[in-house]
Parts: sequence; structure tokens; C-alpha cells
Amino acid sequence: MADETAAPGTVAIIGSGLIGRSWATAFAAAGWQVRLWDAAPGVAESALGKVAAGLADFAAHGLFDAQAIPDAMARASAPPSLAEALAGVDFVQESTSEVPEVKRQAASAIDAAAPPEAIICSSTSAIVASRFTEHLPHRARWLVGHPVNPPHLVPIVELCPAPWTDPDAVDRAQAIYQSIGQVPVRVLKETDGFILNRLQAALLREAFALVADGVCSPDDLDKTIKDGLGLRWSFMGPFETGELNAPGGLPDYGKRYGETLKRLSARPLSNAAFGPEQVAAVMAQWPGAQTPERVAEKTGWRDRRLTALKAHKRAEPDSPL
Ligand SMILES: NC(=O)c1ccc[n+]([C@@H]2O[C@H](COP(=O)([O-])OP(=O)(O)OC[C@H]3O[C@@H](n4cnc5c(N)ncnc54)[C@H](O)[C@@H]3O)[C@@H](O)[C@H]2O)c1
Repeated sequence: MADETAAPGTVAIIGSGLIGRSWATAFAAAGWQVRLWDAAPGVAESALGKVAAGLADFAAHGLFDAQAIPDAMARASAPPSLAEALAGVDFVQESTSEVPEVKRQAASAIDAAAPPEAIICSSTSAIVASRFTEHLPHRARWLVGHPVNPPHLVPIVELCPAPWTDPDAVDRAQAIYQSIGQVPVRVLKETDGFILNRLQAALLREAFALVADGVCSPDDLDKTIKDGLGLRWSFMGPFETGELNAPGGLPDYGKRYGETLKRLSARPLSNAAFGPEQVAAVMAQWPGAQTPERVAEKTGWRDRRLTALKAHKRAEPDSPL
């Protein structure tokens, strides 16, 4: 069984981009010593500033003690070499670029330098661990720990072992994630896209097709999620939602709506999510040019909303039923 009381230790975050720096914030907020490393010069150092900003946002929403920020930042560093980043660590969160060859090379370097007893999780979105850990001398301690962007604000993490991963490594990873406030779920066999991205792919396929087919505007599509399905989904899953949509619970819901849902799933409008014509159909009705400035500004807004939602969810736990 996973031990939810794993004490703070030392974590190395290898790859300090979008995901790595957010992981660093999550571990720093939970009292861990955090070491950031990146193959690109200057990236890990600049990520430290993002960690400080993330902790300040937490403090502004009552999720962290503002007076503890200097101590947390004193525990965070960007050592000058991979070997120094990995020396004596308890846990590694590999967060390098989503390219199979990069993952394979990074895995070799990390496996050789990390203490043999350290658990190593990869943030990979869709590359199963057996594709980049088979050759490693200590491959039994490797698994996927796939987050959602940004993990310091969205707690889910999908644990997916390779066939050779030691079950104890999965339990220990689960305990560590739980101890820093993440919500680990288990992918019981290696599956392309794990759970979350398979669900996301199904939704995006329909979203693009509905707009490209002229059924609705992108704005109304987004409203349908953020002012419709998404409101419930922030605290209930689709099975929990279905249970309450018919007086007799989930089997009753299936009797009433199952045939309709089966018909709609059997005949999707299109399979071309993110095809050039579909993207063009969305962009023709999009309110702003796609610039890095717009993305950065809107990301700041999103993170403030997510921080407030995190505070709300922490105050109001999931249904006990
Ligand atoms: N962005 C997302 O929405 C998202 C969500 C969940 C998981 N992920 C996964 O997280 C991982 C990182 O994604 P990201 O969005 O942070 O990408 P990113 O491009 O922002 O960051 C990747 C970083 O890895 C560094 N890097 C590349 N090779 C390296 C190596 N050998 N050693 C050390 N550093 C190296 C790069 O310099 C870069 O800074 C990917 O596997 C991705 O699939 C991304």
C-alpha cells in the first residue's frame, strides 16, 4: 500500500521547461530540497524565478505561508552539472523534451548518475516507459509519472509502469506524489496516451469537427465546456456525473441514454483533429492573433484562476459517497 506520509527529501528535476519548473514549485511548496537541471544553458537558473513566483501566488491564495518563501527558495538550486543535480537524491522527475531519442539518452545519463535506490518518474505525455528504459541497468525503478500542465496547480499524475518496473517503485512514487498534494492514478497496463490524453483526444476530435462542419462557433464550443460540462467535471468525473443524471443511478442512465451515446460514438463527425482545414476553420473565427505575448498573458490569467480553484477544492473535499 502507498504510504501517504513520505517525508520531504531531495528531488532532481531534469529538464526545466514548462513542466519541470512547475514540478519544482510543487515539490518546493511541500518542503523538498529541489534541484533543477536543463541541458540548455541558463534555463534551470531562470526556472528558479518561476518557482518563487509560483510560491508567491500560492501565498496570495492562502495555500502557502508567505514568510516561508525565503526558506523554500534556499532549499532550491540549479547545480552546474547533471551529476551534481542527481547526487544523493531520493526522487527524480524527468521532464525533458517529448522526443523518443531525447528521452532515451536522458534516461541513460540519469540512470547512470542517480543513486540506485532513487525512484525515477518521467513526465512523458505519450511515450510508454518500455520505449526508453529497456536498456538501463537500473530499469526496475523507472516509471511514467505523467502530469497535466501545470502540475503545481493541477494535481493529477498518471502512474504507468513498464513491464519490468518493480511494483514497490510504483507504491513509493504514489506515496511521494500524495505527500506533496498530487493525486496519483494508476494506468494498469502500458497504453498509448495513458488515460488523460485518450480522453482529451476524443473530446478534441469532436470539438474540431463540430466547428469545421459549421455546427457551432469555437466560442460556443468553449462555452459548452467551461459553462457546461466543465463545471461539474472540476469536482466529479463522468461516471459520478452519470450516476446523478438518472434517479436509478448509472445503470438507469445507461438505459435512458446509452443507445444515443452509442450511436454518437459509433459515427464521429470526423477523425481529423488538428488537421490543417480544421485548424483553419477555428482560427477564422478566433478573436486574437496567436502570439507568444498573448499566450504568456493568458497563461498568467489561467494560473491565477487555477490557484483560486485549487484553494476552493482544498477547502471543499470530494463527495464522501
Ligand atoms: N506541456 C504540456 O502541456 C505537458 C503536459 C504534461 C506532460 N508534458 C511532458 O513533459 C515533458 C516536458 O515538456 P515541456 O512542455 O516542459 O517541454 P519544454 O520544451 O518546455 O521543456 C523541455 C526542456 O527539456 C530540456 N532538455 C532537452 N533535452 C534534455 C536533456 N537531455 N537533459 C536535460 N534537459 C533537456 C530542454 O532544454 C527544455 O528546456 C515532455 O515529456 C512532455 O510531453 C508536457
